[in-house]
Amino acid sequence: MKKRCFLLFLPVVSLGLMLGLTGCGDSGNQGVTSPAALPPDKVIRVGEFASLTGKEASFGVSSHEGTLLAVEEINAGGGVLGKPIQLLSDDDLSKAGEANTVVNKLISRDGVVAVLGEVASSRSLEAAPICQEAHIPMISPSSTNPKVTETGDYIFRVCFIDPFQGTVMANFATKTLKAKKVAVFTDVKSDYSKGLAKFFNEGFKAAGGQIVAELDYNGGDKDFKAELTAIKAANPDAVFIPGYYTDVALICIQAKQLGLNVPLFGGDGWESDELVKIGQDAVEGTYFSTHYAPDLATEKSKKFVADYQKRFMGKTPDAMAALGYDSMMILADAMKRAGTTDGPKLRDAIAATKDFDGVTGKTTINDKRDATKSAVILQVKGGKFKYVETVNP
Ligand code: PHE
Repeated sequence: MKKRCFLLFLPVVSLGLMLGLTGCGDSGNQGVTSPAALPPDKVIRVGEFASLTGKEASFGVSSHEGTLLAVEEINAGGGVLGKPIQLLSDDDLSKAGEANTVVNKLISRDGVVAVLGEVASSRSLEAAPICQEAHIPMISPSSTNPKVTETGDYIFRVCFIDPFQGTVMANFATKTLKAKKVAVFTDVKSDYSKGLAKFFNEGFKAAGGQIVAELDYNGGDKDFKAELTAIKAANPDAVFIPGYYTDVALICIQAKQLGLNVPLFGGDGWESDELVKIGQDAVEGTYFSTHYAPDLATEKSKKFVADYQKRFMGKTPDAMAALGYDSMMILADAMKRAGTTDGPKLRDAIAATKDFDGVTGKTTINDKRDATKSAVILQVKGGKFKYVETVNP
C-alpha cells in the first residue's frame, strides 16, 4: 500500500513538515503502514489541540512531540485493539477563541474518539465543554487550573493541580528563600495565572507570610516598569510571578533594570528554553516549580529521554513533552482495558486509571479526575534548568 503522511489530512501540514513532525517515511513508523493510508474504520482517530504556533508555541510543540512519540511507539507495537492510532493535531495558534473552533472540528468533522490537550488552562477551559457535551473524553496533559476537570465527568488531566503547586511554592518561599514579605505579579488574562496567584497567597499567609503588593499585567504586554516600580516600593523579600515564559522573561529583565534585586520565582509556566534565550542573565538564579526533571531519571524516564532525543534532533524533553507522552499512553491503556473506544466506556476506563507507570511517575486518576503527583523545583543556573528538590503531595 502506498504510504501517505497522516498530517496531509491537516491544515497544519506545512508547519508539520517544517518541524519534522510527520508520521510518514522513515520518521519512526518503520514497518507500520501509515494510519492515514487506511480507511477510517481501520484506524483509531485521536484528536490533539495544541499551541503549535503563536505566543506559547514552545508549550504546544513540546507537548505535541511527546504525544507523537507515544503514538509512534504504540503503532510500532501493533496499535490498540488491533488498529493503529491516527493522531490528528490541530494548531490553536495560542489564541483565545481558536481552541473552540479546532476541537469542534476534530469532533464533528474528523470523528475523533478522544481529545488530548491543551497545555494552557484557559484554552483547556474553552474546549472542555465541547468534549463534555459530545461525550468524548478529553485528557489535558498539563493544565493545572482546578476548573478544567470541574467542567464535567468526561474531562481528565494527568498532572497535579494549582492548589498543590501554589502551596509548594508558598512553602518554598518561607523555608528556602526565608521570605517574610512577598509581592505577587499576576497575568489577569490567564486563568492559570489568576488561580496560581490565589493559591500561592493563601498558602503563604497560612505559613505566616505577608503579601505586601499584588499587581496585575495582561499577557502580551511589553512594558512592566510601572508595576515593577510599585512592587519595588513595597520592599518585598521576593517576587512571585505566576505567568508564562514570554512575559516572565521580559518581567525579569525589567526588574533587574529597575534594581529590584530580590529572588524572583514562579510556577510551571516558566518552563521553556525561551525563558533563558529571552531573559539571559536576568533569569539567572530564579526558581520555578514544574512536573518533571530529565536529570532526575527513573529507568522509564531515561529511555524516554534517549528516544526523544533521537527522534527530535537531540532536544531534551521538558515537562510538557513528558506529560504529552504520558497522556497518550494513559489513553491507550484505557482503550485496552475498555476493549472499545465507545465514549462512555472509555470514560469509565480512564477514570479507573490506577498506578499507571509513566515517564512522569505513577499516575492514579482521583475522584475529581485529576492526578496526585509530586512537583519538582528547578533553578536557572548557567543558563540551564537545574534540579533543586522534589515535593511530594
Ligand atoms: N500548567 C500550565 C497551565 O495550566 C501550563 C503548563 C504546564 C506550563 C506545564 C508549563 C509546563 O496553564
